[in-house]
Amino acid sequence: MSVLEVANVTKDYGHGRGIFEVSFAVEKGEVFGFLGPNGAGKTTTIRHIMGFSKPQKGQTFVNGRDSWQKYYENQKEIGYLPGEIALPESLTGTQFIKMMAELRGLKNLEHTEYLSEKFQLDATGGIKQMSLGMKRKLAVVTAFMHDPQVLVLDERTSGLDPMMQEVFINFVKEEKQRGKTILLSSHIFSEIDATCDRIAIIKDGRIVSNFVADDLRHQETKTFKLEFKTAADYQAFIAQCQNSRA
Ligand SMILES: Nc1ncnc2c1ncn2[C@@H]1O[C@H](COP(=O)(O)OP(=O)(O)OP(=O)(O)O)[C@@H](O)[C@H]1O
Ligand SMILES: [Mg+2]
Repeated sequence: MSVLEVANVTKDYGHGRGIFEVSFAVEKGEVFGFLGPNGAGKTTTIRHIMGFSKPQKGQTFVNGRDSWQKYYENQKEIGYLPGEIALPESLTGTQFIKMMAELRGLKNLEHTEYLSEKFQLDATGGIKQMSLGMKRKLAVVTAFMHDPQVLVLDERTSGLDPMMQEVFINFVKEEKQRGKTILLSSHIFSEIDATCDRIAIIKDGRIVSNFVADDLRHQETKTFKLEFKTAADYQAFIAQCQNSRA
């Protein structure tokens, strides 16, 4: 049984927007890269996995349990870092951590402390006054404080500086070593390339490719498909190639 499974999911928002017949699976211990340009359907797919959105067609599962029907059971096993974070601005970081710990029924805050230290979170001040980077760190700590078996990260490093991005990559690698299953979404190939075992590419709401990352890394010859809008564009391209060879 796969840890995460997306089976023929369709959510049609009209005008060609949404996701259509999306299917893929993430196995235990795998780091899965979910790659696609802006508006391709990454967040929509992830929201279905999390059980926030009901599919019009198809189903998603977390450890074999339907995402929509078994929402509460699934939340214990899954940690989700959204791409756009919304934190309660009237609280301090410390108050928010306490609130999330209570909501999750957490008694032991050892893992929270470990994450706070790792990401150098200073949670003492008001959330409203925090920099974007600090808010992002607070979101990371509260998303994964319950040490979930499955980590889902939408646009994982947006809002983090290069040093913290490095910390983040190490965090993903460490979690993988601890046997966790991880889904990373991004529109930047290099962001997920460093850590992923398998990559699926989504475009215009449809999966266009799903491959083992190492196959791409070790491939010596690469094949590219070029499409031209008009015959004139094609002729201009050929002419340019011939010029550059002359
Ligand atoms: N609630 C909604 N109502 C209508 N259209 C929506 C809704 N949510 C998403 N869409 C549309 O569905 C498509 C996919 O959006 P989605 O947010 O899943 O893309 P994404 O791959 O996460 O993009 P990004 O990289 O910008 O985060 C877009 O065309 C978007 O405008
Ligand atoms: Mg998105």
